[in-house]
Amino acid sequence: MTSNKATPLSLEQKAALTSGAGWWDTVSYPQAGIPAVVMSDGPHGLRFQESDADHLGLSSSAPATCFPPAVALGSSWDLGLTHRVASALGREAQFFGVNVLLGPGINIKRSPLCGRNFEYFSEDPLLSGALGVAWVKGLQSQGVGASLKHFAANNQETDRMTISADIAARPLQEIYLRAFRRVVMEAKPWTVMCSYNRINGLHASQNPWLLTEILRDEWGFNGVVVSDWGAVVDRVKGLAAGMDLEMPSSSGAGPARVAAAVRSGELDEVRLDLSVARLTTLAAKSAFGARPGIMFDAEAHHALAREAAVRSAVLLKNDGGLLPLDPASGQKIAVIGEFARTPRYQGAGSSQVVPTQLDTALDAIKGLAVNAGIRFAPGFTVDGTSDPIRDSALRQEAVRTAAEADVVVLFLGLPASYESEGFDREHIELPAEQTALLEAVSSANRNVVVVLANGSVVRLSGWADRVPAILEGWLGGQAGGSATADLLFGRANPSGRLTETIPLRIEDTPAYLDFPGEGGHVSYGEGLFVGYRHYDARKLEVSFPFGHGLSYTSFEYSDLRVDNADGGARLAVRVRNSGDRAGREVVQAYVQAPCSRVQRPERELKGFATIELQPGEAAEVVITVPRDEFAYYDVGAAAWLVEELEYSFQVGTSSRDLRLAAAVHIQGDDFVAPVDKESTLAEWFRHPVGGPALQVLLEPVLASVREGALKGSPREKMIMGTRLGQLAQFPAVPVTEDQLDVLMAQVFSN
Ligand code: BGC
Repeated sequence: MTSNKATPLSLEQKAALTSGAGWWDTVSYPQAGIPAVVMSDGPHGLRFQESDADHLGLSSSAPATCFPPAVALGSSWDLGLTHRVASALGREAQFFGVNVLLGPGINIKRSPLCGRNFEYFSEDPLLSGALGVAWVKGLQSQGVGASLKHFAANNQETDRMTISADIAARPLQEIYLRAFRRVVMEAKPWTVMCSYNRINGLHASQNPWLLTEILRDEWGFNGVVVSDWGAVVDRVKGLAAGMDLEMPSSSGAGPARVAAAVRSGELDEVRLDLSVARLTTLAAKSAFGARPGIMFDAEAHHALAREAAVRSAVLLKNDGGLLPLDPASGQKIAVIGEFARTPRYQGAGSSQVVPTQLDTALDAIKGLAVNAGIRFAPGFTVDGTSDPIRDSALRQEAVRTAAEADVVVLFLGLPASYESEGFDREHIELPAEQTALLEAVSSANRNVVVVLANGSVVRLSGWADRVPAILEGWLGGQAGGSATADLLFGRANPSGRLTETIPLRIEDTPAYLDFPGEGGHVSYGEGLFVGYRHYDARKLEVSFPFGHGLSYTSFEYSDLRVDNADGGARLAVRVRNSGDRAGREVVQAYVQAPCSRVQRPERELKGFATIELQPGEAAEVVITVPRDEFAYYDVGAAAWLVEELEYSFQVGTSSRDLRLAAAVHIQGDDFVAPVDKESTLAEWFRHPVGGPALQVLLEPVLASVREGALKGSPREKMIMGTRLGQLAQFPAVPVTEDQLDVLMAQVFSN
């Protein structure tokens, strides 16, 4: 008798399914109808390896489109574009037969020193979450699953496999988990990748609170949790905590441990069956989504990479309107800097892609400014070495070239050896030979445009004042060179915005004193005050604030209105293009909660929208801020709560260029902080039932506080800090233990 029924799996087969078959694929059981799932990095291009595989980007991979990494793509603040880029990645994944692409990385940029910041979007959780949602939805629209990573609190590379990120509950929830929460709930990634590090002492890969209570029970995740490559410490504890798939293969060790643990009763087989069910569903989804034989249009994807790089660059300054340059003016242009010829366009490590083609800015500039006299001088080398004689000769040649030109475009940035997965940066300086070059060149010619290539912020203070224009190109992907030329010559108008603050100096940064920790622990001592939340709270000057970015046109804001909508708020503002070029504005809405009962940042990004406007054109921009965005994480209640408050909205073009403000009243959640004998009198008096009851009980004592010499004195505050339970023990207080029990009963019966 033949049957369509899948053969049931033995214990050993089930255990084997929870570990990889090799570097990139899972175990398959054709007889049981379970195909293999093929995974690949990720996230800004396919790093598909057929043989000689590794997870560190050491071995090569098949050519694929290298889109701008997250540091750049995020700076577009463009959700539609992010969706399109991720869809293109999905098509390329299909072409390579990849079912799950290992991205996006949405960890918060806690310190500019994190060596992997180029792979992450922002210092802000709302922005990281919004971009992550767009990315996951774009990818998964193509039948390819995402792997949201690195869950969680993987904010440094130093000791990344062992370090414990020690974080208090509020920042953990409001800053570090917040973006993950949003992406999981809104975009439903097929998989989540747990990080290497520990969180408050416990490895993410075997943390039941993180992988089960938060991720599944609270956020409703029903996909597969996959380990970062080699993140498994104890396979059985991991499985019990909710970590379904160990990657890569542990050559049989993991499965053997799992099977033995089930046999000995250490691990409940039900737990294993749960993971097997999730893995089987993932395999079925992958098979259903696969489109064998699909091709992708490499030229179209290159054009998309160029569009993305154009949108990603941030025009930091443009004094006197030096940019855009006129391609037809016949100006003599000096192009200086090795990066113009040898672009730095992506980061290093597991995300490193072999591009399908590579544009250089030098070629693109020559191609655009055909009438201009273009002369090139490398100015420095990018091999990371320093040789005073060679460097000085290169500098002199560059200065001669600059002196003879009308305008200089100077390409500076970080050599590849400065930042990578696997280690952190030691400082945020450009190489000394580059700043020396800048000084010399800017002395020889005042019209200098600096174009930067770097995966994380560099210090600009000290030299930015010497030049009239700076274009931050980040790592622009394979078409970054041509995108730069488009922007320099005004074929496109810059509209990127900073997703991270550029500080004046590393000493000003929030995690400066704690990063990267020692003795296996890193304390997140700055709490909620990450990125602009820190600079604003401390009223620190910065080089360029979060959200900043100029355009070749200008925008005016008027008619701000904020109304209640669905328990949250709806904001409408009129934006007008008041310049003479078409342009795109990124409208940012920040919220202040000045009278909150808990500590709050000065302002927090709660919404944004983009609009493209022709010269003179105006339009109403609408931003909805869901109720959820008004919530803070209440540590006592262990829950998200919306406080009843007058919230103030500030709307503008950066976190420090806020043009209009309006307030809105939001109804609070129906929540009463519980009280018991351990609560203070102040807490009891805030309780709607306990407060009045205690008032009656303590009337004799309170009368003297109210009316006597104690009123308003420091002693009153001291008394309010007393623990309720203490009262019955104080000699002169006429309150008995029995009376307190009656009081407690009154509160609990309500
Ligand atoms: C990285 C991940 C990557 C994995 C597979 C790890 O070292 O942290 O981001 O997806 O390797 O290459």
